[in-house]
Amino acid sequence: MRLGVNVDHYATIRQARRTYEPDPVAAVILADLAGADGIVCHLREDRRHINDNDLARIRQTVKSVLNMEMAPTDEMVKIAMAVKPEIVTLVPEKREEVTTEGGLNVTNIKPYLQEIIPRLKQAGIQVSVFVDPDIRQIKECALIGADSIELHTGTYSNAKSSAQVLDELNKIKVAAAFGKKSGLFVAAGHGLNYHNVKYIAQILDIEELNIGHSIVARASLVGLERAVKEMVEIVKNEYNLSLIMSR
Ligand code: PXP
Repeated sequence: MRLGVNVDHYATIRQARRTYEPDPVAAVILADLAGADGIVCHLREDRRHINDNDLARIRQTVKSVLNMEMAPTDEMVKIAMAVKPEIVTLVPEKREEVTTEGGLNVTNIKPYLQEIIPRLKQAGIQVSVFVDPDIRQIKECALIGADSIELHTGTYSNAKSSAQVLDELNKIKVAAAFGKKSGLFVAAGHGLNYHNVKYIAQILDIEELNIGHSIVARASLVGLERAVKEMVEIVKNEYNLSLIMSR
């Protein structure tokens, strides 16, 4: 199982004072040294954290895999084609939201996605779509030629009762198995932390987790290197344990 570290909130801290520090590029270097398999950043339409200059410098710095999260818009497609991240993850975006609130409704914008996905792929960029653990949406992702899906784990992460946690976990398991059977690479993320990541990391059909807020929050107290190493350890241990138990 791979771990992608989202560095957006280093830019959020910087923007709190509209200054020059901390530099998300420094976070990229440290996360890479600590064992991150890839780096994720989200260039939002309102540039509330990562900006175009950050993205360009992060591109130059990342030697593993850069996953650029972006809304499916002409502006973002143009930027992605110029920056050439290894992966783009298409996410829904609302100006007023604090963070991404759910998966993309692929059905609603299918013709537009069918137009931009081949263009991105032709430019050598893999296309991932952030979706809820919903079989209909995953089927659409396979039909429109996406390479991967990233399952939205936010509802699981926010679940309050154990019955709700189990219910959401089950939806994610079923969705991951369906995605893999449909030939898609399956990632997951949103709202995962050092506690709730355990059960998601045990799902063998999921091949990658993308985590930001919880790693940056822990890093503010214990340092980024330790925060990344601790998450890598949990994710890889749980995955390997689950692999052994499945044999
Ligand atoms: N995956 C996607 C598609 C996201 O939009 C985000 C948030 O930027 C994340 C993962 C990371 O979520 P979190 O910051 O809650 O770990």
